[in-house]
Amino acid sequence: MAIFTSSTLDVPNTSSIPRHIAIVMDGNGRWAKNRLMPRVAGHKRGVDAVKRTVQACCELGVEHLTLFAFSSENWRRPPEEVSVLMRLFIRVLRKDVEAMHRENICLRIVGDTTAFEPELQAAIASAQELTKNNTRLYLNIAANYGGRWDILQATKNMLKSRPDLADNPELITEASLSQHLCLQGSPEPDLFIRTGGEQRVSNFLLWQLAYTEFYFTDKFWPDFGKPMLLEAIDSYNNRERRFGRTSEQIQPQLVNVLQSAQ
Ligand code: IPE
Ligand code: IPE
Ligand code: MG
Repeated sequence: MAIFTSSTLDVPNTSSIPRHIAIVMDGNGRWAKNRLMPRVAGHKRGVDAVKRTVQACCELGVEHLTLFAFSSENWRRPPEEVSVLMRLFIRVLRKDVEAMHRENICLRIVGDTTAFEPELQAAIASAQELTKNNTRLYLNIAANYGGRWDILQATKNMLKSRPDLADNPELITEASLSQHLCLQGSPEPDLFIRTGGEQRVSNFLLWQLAYTEFYFTDKFWPDFGKPMLLEAIDSYNNRERRFGRTSEQIQPQLVNVLQSAQ
C-alpha cells in the first residue's frame, strides 16, 4: 500500500470528513486525580474512550486513525505506571483484537517495538497478522513512538536500502525518505486532536503534521467519544486549508465580490 502523498509537494484533495485523524490521548492521570482515583484508573477508562473513538471513526467514514498511546519519553514515568500501561496494552491486544477483526479494522503498531518485553511483541505480531488484510479503518497505535526517532530510523533504513544515496545526497527526495517513515502508506493527517488542555506536539508525528489542522480541547481523554470527535470535525470544517495558496485562489468567487465592490 505504498502511496506517496506530500502536502508540501502537491495540494491534497480534502473532504468534510478528514481522511486521517491523529490524536494525542492526554489527560488520563488528571481525570483520575479529579476523582481521587489512582492514575492507572484513568488509563483503564482511556481504553473505553479508544473503543468509542474507533467505532465513531468507522461510522463516520474516517479511513485512517493514529492514536498516540505511549511516547518514547514516557519511559521516564515511575516504573509501576509504565508496567501497568504495558499490561493494559497486552490485555487490549489479546482481548479486543478479534472484535476489531470482525469490524474489518487493520491494526498497525508504530514505534520502536523492539524495546517491549517479548510477550507484548508477540501480542503485537499476532494482532497485526490477524488484521493485516482489513480495509475499513487503518488504525495506527503509536507506542514507544517519537517523531525524531521516526525521522532517524527512516534515514537509517533509506541508506541501508539505497547505499548509493550516501555518496549522492542530492538524489535524496522527500519520497525516498518518507517511504521509510512508520506511517508510510497512510496519507498525512488532516486533523490533529489533543485532549487534556496542553497545546504541544510532544514529539508526535513531526514530519507528517506539516499541513495538519490542529484542534485542542481541555476535556480529558477518558471523556472522549463521538460527540467530542464531531466537535473537532466541526472546527476542522471551519478552517480554510490553503497549503501555501491565497484565499482568493481557493474561493475564486471572493475575487468577484471584491472586484464588484470596488
Ligand atoms: C495520557 O495521559 C496517557 C499516556 C501518556 C500514556 P497522561 O497519563 O499523560 O495524563 P496526565 O497528562 O498526567 O493527566
Ligand atoms: C503525550 O502525552 C504522549 C501520549 C499521549 C502518549 P504526555 O502526557 O506524555 O505529554 P507531555 O509530557 O505532557 O508533553
Ligand atoms: Mg499527559
